[in-house]
Amino acid sequence: MALQFEASCPNGLCPGWSVILKGEIPAEANKFEINFLCEHDDRIAFHFNPRFTESDIICNSYLANHWGQEERVSNFPFGVEEPFQIEIYSDNDNFNVYIDETMVMQYKHRVEELKTITKVQVVNDITISSLEITKKHFF
Ligand code: GAL
Repeated sequence: MALQFEASCPNGLCPGWSVILKGEIPAEANKFEINFLCEHDDRIAFHFNPRFTESDIICNSYLANHWGQEERVSNFPFGVEEPFQIEIYSDNDNFNVYIDETMVMQYKHRVEELKTITKVQVVNDITISSLEITKKHFF
């Protein structure tokens, strides 16, 4: 696992949280992951995993020591060495994922207590140009 970025957010997530990642896929990439983790145990609340070998995006959670049911995104908008932006925005019910400002999926929260989600991590084959974490006003 090649760690590209990691940030701890001790107060945890709340509705309105947004992560905006700008980056590019290097040549000969296999996969990358954006993980939203619960630092105090080994849960992964949201695993967002584009796989270039399968041209598929796999989303899942790791709870109670096992992976749950996968949710797959039907289109695969990534091209090698083409810059893109991913925004993962959390509201009360979902992680909403936008790629280049098009919504590609809503992932219903499986960890309902958002404040237990305290770490964001990006791993493997991605070149990050910027990563912004903000809390938007929630109306
Ligand atoms: C597994 C893989 C994990 C994770 C999981 C998601 O096969 O080893 O890294 O991607 O699928 O369901």
